[in-house]
Amino acid sequence: MTRPIRVAVTGPNGSIGYAILFRIASGELFGKDRPIELRLLDRNTPESRAKLKGTMMELSDCAFPLLTSMTAYNDEYSLFDGAECVFLIGAQPRKDGMDRSDLLRLNGEIFRKQGKALNDRASRDVRVLVVGNPCNTNALIAMRNAPDLSPECFSAMMRLDQNRAMARVAEKLNVPVGGVEQVFVWGNHSNTMYPDIRFLRYNGRRVDDQFDEAWKESFIKNVATRGGQIIKARGASSAASAASAAIDHMRDWILGSQGKVCTMAVPSDGSYGIPRGLVFGFPCLCPGEGRYQIIRNMPMTPEVNARLATTRDELIAEARAVADLMP
Ligand code: LMR
Repeated sequence: MTRPIRVAVTGPNGSIGYAILFRIASGELFGKDRPIELRLLDRNTPESRAKLKGTMMELSDCAFPLLTSMTAYNDEYSLFDGAECVFLIGAQPRKDGMDRSDLLRLNGEIFRKQGKALNDRASRDVRVLVVGNPCNTNALIAMRNAPDLSPECFSAMMRLDQNRAMARVAEKLNVPVGGVEQVFVWGNHSNTMYPDIRFLRYNGRRVDDQFDEAWKESFIKNVATRGGQIIKARGASSAASAASAAIDHMRDWILGSQGKVCTMAVPSDGSYGIPRGLVFGFPCLCPGEGRYQIIRNMPMTPEVNARLATTRDELIAEARAVADLMP
């Protein structure tokens, strides 16, 4: 049997954590041939320990054939020891009325600490996906605190925004979402993101522009504020859809996106005028083996450039606000 892959998850007691663990352990992430060693961060309070114990009992009761071991750790250095695939989910969630920027300082310290621990202990080929918000800047903080790891080990999740955009397009066209392709999202996982449907395909064919300007404008706003709409509706932030997008992101990154464009927030290589290192949502292709390529030749227009500049400037301001957390 193949060697187990070492997967570490922070925030296993949160709703996203609870939703993702069973999907990872079932083999949805790495396929049905790859055994999994699951490592979970325990916040080390009696309540969190008890809750995590219950979740681990449930994982055990699923009798997942691929789950070779699972262990709870209460410090990040042990958690990340030799980790090859890491989901940084644990963070304070955004509450109704709160902006992502309010979360910056609240969560930045967590990601600084985790970046240092990853730097010291993770596999040199680790793939880290930051889900906890504000995820782009949290990924930047973690990456900058891990100078011995390649920046390409870090990414933040904007696949949820892509999935939301694909779902809205499918609704509008009244078609199954499975055939919708080449929809992606630029920038920050925030209200300034730019969901781009200029190159939309359905079942491999270009879709003639069936969208009027008013619909496009409301679509962009709808996708960008969907997280807030869900918080209002559920009284809690998205959980199962976020977990699902995290699986989509990591699976494509590690196993390859089969030629499909996928949105990943990754350190900029300077493409499209985005400052190097800023963790920005780009259209990417994943050739497999844990690699990704930013698609560099997307045609741009002054309007699209202006939208990218808005979301870029927001990320620059976020990075400045937490500059003291980054060496
Ligand atoms: C989401 O997009 O649903 C999450 O990132 C929650 C949020 O704060 O918007």
